[in-house]
Amino acid sequence: MIVSGLSLKTFAIIVGSAAALRAVQFCLDLRRLLRSIDYLPGYRTVFSSTTVFGNLLPRIPLLALGRAHSWRLKHAPFAERGLDIISAVSFWPKPVGNIYIADVQAIKDIIWSRGLFPKPLSQYAVLKVFGSNIVASEGDEWKRHHKVVARAFSERNNRLVWDATTQIMLELFDTVWIGKDEVVVDHAVDLTLQIGLFVIGAAGFGRHISWKDDAVIPPGHQLTFKDALLTTSHDLFIKLLVPRWAMGFTKRFRRARLESDELQRYLTEMIQERKGFQLKEDDEDLLSSLLAANNDENLWKDEVKLNDSELIGNIFILIIDETVSHSLAFALALLALYPDKQEELYQQIKRVLPDGRIPTYDDIPSLSYSSAVFNEALRMFPPVTNVPKSSAENTTFTITDVNGTQRTLRFTTTVRYSSTQSRSAIAA
Ligand SMILES: *[C@@H]1O[C@H](CO)[C@@H](O)[C@H](O)[C@H]1NC(C)=O
Ligand SMILES: *[C@@H]1O[C@H](CO)[C@@H](O)[C@H](O)[C@H]1NC(C)=O
Ligand SMILES: *[C@@H]1O[C@H](CO)[C@@H](O)[C@H](O)[C@H]1NC(C)=O
Repeated sequence: MIVSGLSLKTFAIIVGSAAALRAVQFCLDLRRLLRSIDYLPGYRTVFSSTTVFGNLLPRIPLLALGRAHSWRLKHAPFAERGLDIISAVSFWPKPVGNIYIADVQAIKDIIWSRGLFPKPLSQYAVLKVFGSNIVASEGDEWKRHHKVVARAFSERNNRLVWDATTQIMLELFDTVWIGKDEVVVDHAVDLTLQIGLFVIGAAGFGRHISWKDDAVIPPGHQLTFKDALLTTSHDLFIKLLVPRWAMGFTKRFRRARLESDELQRYLTEMIQERKGFQLKEDDEDLLSSLLAANNDENLWKDEVKLNDSELIGNIFILIIDETVSHSLAFALALLALYPDKQEELYQQIKRVLPDGRIPTYDDIPSLSYSSAVFNEALRMFPPVTNVPKSSAENTTFTITDVNGTQRTLRFTTTVRYSSTQSRSAIAA
């Protein structure tokens, strides 16, 4: 074959040199990358686990770490190396170095130095589909969200959530489970997800949701608030993965679109309804507290307050948080697997509440066995294993290894961090 006058031989030489150049460039990039992470040992794979594609792959040695590798392996990769910091270098689409940290002090340093370790916002972008919010922002934008959210979500809210939860559980016992000696739940999450969302409905929006399927669809809506709330979080991954223009393609996608549109409509309505009222921060639900904090002129000097889309963004972060429901399901499963622990738990509850009264928020310190059960479930099955951060400047970490030797590691700015919390949980 002749390419516009070039002989095949010349063509082969050009292609060959280009490939050789690429290979040399790749080796140089790689060497620079390894130097930038101080030659810290760890995983070496082709695909990065921080890309969507790399995350979809199963574990294939040398190719991909596989889905939820931190969740599966927990502290084991650190224990194997005797050091609470390891690297993960991947080569495609370009050489990238990630650092996984399980050292408690180093994690604290990273969390407290917001400016030095900003969030890699591209990894959080999916959480912005319903509006900007405190989780998916950084810098001045984060500060605006933080002002309002920190004011609204206080210790008082824990009481609110406690009271809502007791009400919801009592209603479950008194209606759906009444008169039954035994209740069989095949999949615990089906139950705990409802509990979680009913609590959000009540404590978050002052909306009582009934266990019984008797809600009427209000005018202007196609779904009840309960259905919009329950199904949106279930089908959220569709909304996150499928672009807006493709949402009409299948029945499933159209359903997911309807659900999230309906939920958005409900939330917008609730914000509008509250606009006419004089709200106080100690009002009975989180949305009212959030709006009251946002409306406080003293909070905003030269800045603009949060607009409706940003308010809804922060509320969505609260709603889509299914971590509580899943953690609760794991705790129930563990109690079923260890009946002796379940009995100890039951006996302590009976000792603390001898007359069978309903526990209040102030009983929590006395219910130490319950707290221990939840902590252990969280340690065994952590709902969140990594908090991704990036480094804005060159950084030094001093980490003590398993033999008590201090190791100092110097990283330059091409590095990304992922603080793994499994170790701190194990130490707790
Ligand atoms: C700790 O000491 C043991 C025994 O000397 C050694 O085999 C191991 O490699 C050391 N671990 C680290 C992380 O240096
Ligand atoms: C609300 O603020 C965001 C920035 O966080 C902006 O993109 C959006 O256009 C604003 N929405 C309205 C309705 O002003
Ligand atoms: C970070 O370290 C590298 C390598 O030592 C150096 O070339 C670079 O100037 C440093 N960057 C900063 C911002 O100090």
